[in-house]
This record gives sequence, C-alpha cells and structure tokens, in this order.
Amino acid sequence: MELIIIQSQEHETLPHAELKAVMECENVKGDTYIPTKGLTIIKNLNKECFDENYKILNKRLAYAHEINEIIFKKEFKNSKDLNEYLKIKDNEGQKNKQNKPLNDLYDEFKKIDLKSYLKESFAIRIKKYDKINLDTLKIEKKLGAIIKNNYPNVKVKLENPKTFIRIIITEKSIYIGYMKYKLNKKHFQEMKPHKRPFFYPGSMNPKLARAMVNLSKIKEGETLLDPFCGTGGILIEGGMIGAKLIGSDISWKMKNGTGINLNHCGFSHWTTHHLDVRELKLYDKVDAVVTDPPYGISTSTGGEKSEIIFKEFLDSISKNMKKNALLCMASPHYLNLDEILKDLDFKLIDRHEIKMHKSLTRIISVIVKIESENRIENENKI
Ligand SMILES: C[S@@+](CC[C@H](N)C(=O)[O-])C[C@H]1O[C@@H](n2cnc3c(N)ncnc32)[C@H](O)[C@@H]1O
Repeated sequence: MELIIIQSQEHETLPHAELKAVMECENVKGDTYIPTKGLTIIKNLNKECFDENYKILNKRLAYAHEINEIIFKKEFKNSKDLNEYLKIKDNEGQKNKQNKPLNDLYDEFKKIDLKSYLKESFAIRIKKYDKINLDTLKIEKKLGAIIKNNYPNVKVKLENPKTFIRIIITEKSIYIGYMKYKLNKKHFQEMKPHKRPFFYPGSMNPKLARAMVNLSKIKEGETLLDPFCGTGGILIEGGMIGAKLIGSDISWKMKNGTGINLNHCGFSHWTTHHLDVRELKLYDKVDAVVTDPPYGISTSTGGEKSEIIFKEFLDSISKNMKKNALLCMASPHYLNLDEILKDLDFKLIDRHEIKMHKSLTRIISVIVKIESENRIENENKI
C-alpha cells in the first residue's frame, strides 16, 4: 500500500527529514521517495499496520498537510509523456481540442473501483505542482460527474464531505488519492507563544519545535530534556507526543513559566529545575535532548570564548544522555559546531539551515551521543 503526503513547502529539507525520523522511531516500515518538491510517497507499507501507521504520522508530523492513500497512479518518464497522455500541448492546458484533451484520464477514472472509499457524500479536488497549466475546476467537475454517474447514491458535498478524493498532478505524474487525514493545525495555532498563559519573547515557533522533537526520534513514554527550556515551547511539543518531560533554565522566572505552560496543556509527567546547564546532573539519563540555547551568549562574550561556553554546555548535556541518544539543537550559523564537537562524546549526523534574515541563518543539527574510546578507557581505570 502507498501513501502520498502533501508537505509544507516552507522549508526545503525539514519536512522529509522529520518524516523519515518519525518512520524510523515509530517502526513504520516503508520506502520513501520524492516525486517533486512538497510531496513524499511512502511505498511498500505493510497492509496489517496501515491504519496504525498513518495515525501515528498524523499525530506527530509538523510539516505535513495531508495524508492520502494512493488508489491510482500514472508516472511518466518526463513531462512530454504526461502531456501526450493528457493530450495537451506543453503549458497550454486545454487548447488542443481536436485530440479531446484528458479523455484517457477520464476513461481510466471511470474504471477505478471507488466503492470501498465512497461514503454518502464526496468532494474532489486537484492540486497542481511544477507550474503545470490545467483548468482544474473543469477537470474536477468532469471527474465529479463521472463519480455521480457511477455511484448515483453518493452526493457532492464541498464542505465537510465524508469522502475526499485528492488528485495530484505534477509535471510527470498523476496520483488519485483517498484523503485519510488532513492534518489538524489547530494545535499549532493555539500554541503560538503569545497565546500561552506564560509568554516571553524569543520562544520558538511550535511547528519548528515539533519538527525538532521528531528529529530527536523520541517516543511516547521516553524522557525528553530541554536544558534551556525558556517558556517551555519545545517541551510542550514533546508532551503532545506523550514524552515525559524535564526542563531546566538558569532563570527562575522561566523555570516557573514553563511549569505554568505545561500545566495549561494538561501534562502530568514533567519536572522543571532552576539550574545553570553546566550544573545539570540528572539521576537518570534521558532518551533525547531538544534545545534552543541562547544565542546572546555568543554575541555577549564574542569570539573564541563563546565556543568554549557552548562546549561546556554540550559537555554537561552529554553526561545526562543515554548512549546513542539524539540531541537536536538550534544554533546560529557563525558558531563552528564541528570544531566544538571535536573533543566531545558527540557526532553530528544531520543539519538543516533556516534563513532567518540577511545576517542570521539558524542551523538545526542532529547529534548522536557516542562514547569515545578514550573516555571508556579512562572510566575503566578508575
Ligand atoms: C532561546 S531561550 C529558549 C527558548 C525556548 N526554546 C522557548 O521556546 O521558550 C534560551 C533560554 O536559556 C536560558 N539560559 C541562558 N543561559 C543558561 C544557562 N547557562 N543554563 C541554563 N539556561 C540558560 C535563558 O534563561 C533562556 O530562557
């Protein structure tokens, strides 16, 4: 079975990376490929756990809009072949009237057995990619008429239909999908920093926070730490997927504010500490760390010293992490992370860039906790 996921195009690499991370940690077995920017197909999904799989993707993903089960697909080598199939001239939509444009598509559509998908009402919508030039309204009407003709008991209902058929057309492919889920973005709207009971400027936007939580591969019931918790934005997203939460902050006000926000969300498994990260010594090591350290440190201390401070932060964080646990961290582009990580028990495995403005690019890094041979040898000597 196959799913086609319509993803947010607000970032080049994060949507696909978070999807892969969620699939891996939630044991969703399947092969992904990207037909064009903004779409990912998951092939070879196990039929038995199909429902579980798309539910978990729906629950976790930040940068996805829709999850559709593919019921029909047509993939061509290039755009010329697709245009020939649709009988349209390049970028001229419906102008080629003589060859009855789109007739092959309509004929194939008539033959698709939609019985198991259609409930009492339906809507059909086309989404175009790659600047393809087609009169989508006309095609939607025609395909809708075919459904009404084949299944006379089913009614068209454009608002809240029971069945939503999604047609996706890229420059070299056509997918017909049954929409399993339209991802509910209400949470991300409601959790905008200024809408929480405790607000302080500088909090991360909830979608990015969720994507970072996903990149850390944390699972329900595992423990997530944010040692620079601020207003608790990252921890809230960890709580939404069922993680146990530990937050700490050097500021008493922030530590308390995080508590207010976590209570507001109704989470019960959380603790917060009022601590400098360099003094953090947790009794139990955590499964993942997701954090947004203060960039001000770099600017206020400047030059080499800021790197030393980051090194101290990271050294302390690493001592509180289980082996192979992941740290997902935001940092400014001017911080040389490779250099900082060199002597620490960490290895950089992935990085994404987010351009904030002309002079600041945010780097989202995924770092794995390793145990260096030196450190193990030294520990054994004691
Ligand atoms: C960029 S903010 C984190 C924002 C947070 N992700 C949110 O969504 O609200 C950085 C936080 O680090 C805290 N901080 C600064 N230096 C620290 C230190 N040495 N140890 C622990 N926390 C520190 C600050 O008080 C601030 O709340």
